Amino acid sequence: MEEKEFKALLVEEDRNEHKYNRRLVTRKISDLPPGELLVRVKYSSLNYKDALSASGNKGVTKRYPHTPGIDCSGVVEHSLVPDFAPGDEVIVSCFDLGMNTPGGFGQYIRVPAAWAVKLPGTLSLRRSMIYGTAGFTAAQCIERIIGHGVTPEHGSVLVTGAMGGVGCMAVAILAKLGFQVSAATGKAANNFLSKIGATEVIPREKISAGKMRSLLRERWAAVVDTVGGHYLEAAVKTTKYGGIVTCCGNVASPELALTVYPFILRGITLTGIDSAITPMAKRQKIWQKIAQEWQLDFIDDLGQEIYLADLNASIEAMLAGQLTGRIIVNLQ
Ligand SMILES: NC(=O)c1ccc[n+]([C@@H]2O[C@H](COP(=O)([O-])OP(=O)(O)OC[C@H]3O[C@@H](n4cnc5c(N)ncnc54)[C@H](OP(=O)(O)O)[C@@H]3O)[C@@H](O)[C@H]2O)c1
Repeated sequence: MEEKEFKALLVEEDRNEHKYNRRLVTRKISDLPPGELLVRVKYSSLNYKDALSASGNKGVTKRYPHTPGIDCSGVVEHSLVPDFAPGDEVIVSCFDLGMNTPGGFGQYIRVPAAWAVKLPGTLSLRRSMIYGTAGFTAAQCIERIIGHGVTPEHGSVLVTGAMGGVGCMAVAILAKLGFQVSAATGKAANNFLSKIGATEVIPREKISAGKMRSLLRERWAAVVDTVGGHYLEAAVKTTKYGGIVTCCGNVASPELALTVYPFILRGITLTGIDSAITPMAKRQKIWQKIAQEWQLDFIDDLGQEIYLADLNASIEAMLAGQLTGRIIVNLQ
């Protein structure tokens, strides 16, 4: 029987020119690594980590040629384990998918069953990727904030990188839960953020002021920070007594220069959020929340759909910080 072929984006390293080239290629199922589940990918999404992988960031992807795509949704075509059967709809994200394992920017993936979550009944394959790793990460930040005891009565929640994937998901879900959301962005004012629920839009340079001082005027009950660097420093210095700052990203910088004063004088909690190796029970719980009580009425408006052939341009736009909202990739 002739082996099935499929399309994928391939990133190749050109050692002579010191650059990374991307092109669409035809691959065979036997090109994929061994694994318990063979999944026919229907949708993937573009996350910042994918843009890093697609541009040769060795902290994300060590070996090239490589197919990025850290998340995808699709249908199980073959399973070696009893928990999954052909025809099951699944979300595959986290762990090594798209890092050093061929990812969702190909029409097939083969992965360990432990990387897959069954698609909640109230979510479509398409919508699951509008949320994608970005929505999952935003939801984890919000769950941590609520778990800390923060309620809408405590005051505004600051979201940085608000027009990005994680940022816009955080703004929208927080607003749905009744929080006042202050959205910090570097983009020119438009009504995107207020349409998805931000109560206030702040130019990002306004939150990075006061660098030399250890503490600044208390403003936020909690923070979802997606950018790091001096924005995160400012966020910690301006969080109200007893508040919590969730840290998940480093788009601006991985550096963090703080004193101990926000922690010992205001009791601030700075907490890290990781979506890559979230344990299964937690992953299922977060996806259930996204699919049920936290599901957004306007979720379809947050995803712009592209095809494999459009990825190159979108990756460049993401690296330049020019995208708004979420990009989903239709692989059908
Ligand atoms: N911890 C985890 O498990 C996890 C999971 C998912 C994502 N992340 C991280 O979260 C971050 C955001 O990911 P994403 O997929 O949402 O990316 P994204 O869609 O590209 O959004 C990033 C946003 O950051 C802002 N930004 C860009 N360049 C900036 C700069 N130089 N200084 C300050 N702000 C800047 C922009 O927002 P504005 O246009 O509003 O300014 C941009 O839209 C990344 O660092 C990513 O690696 C971590």
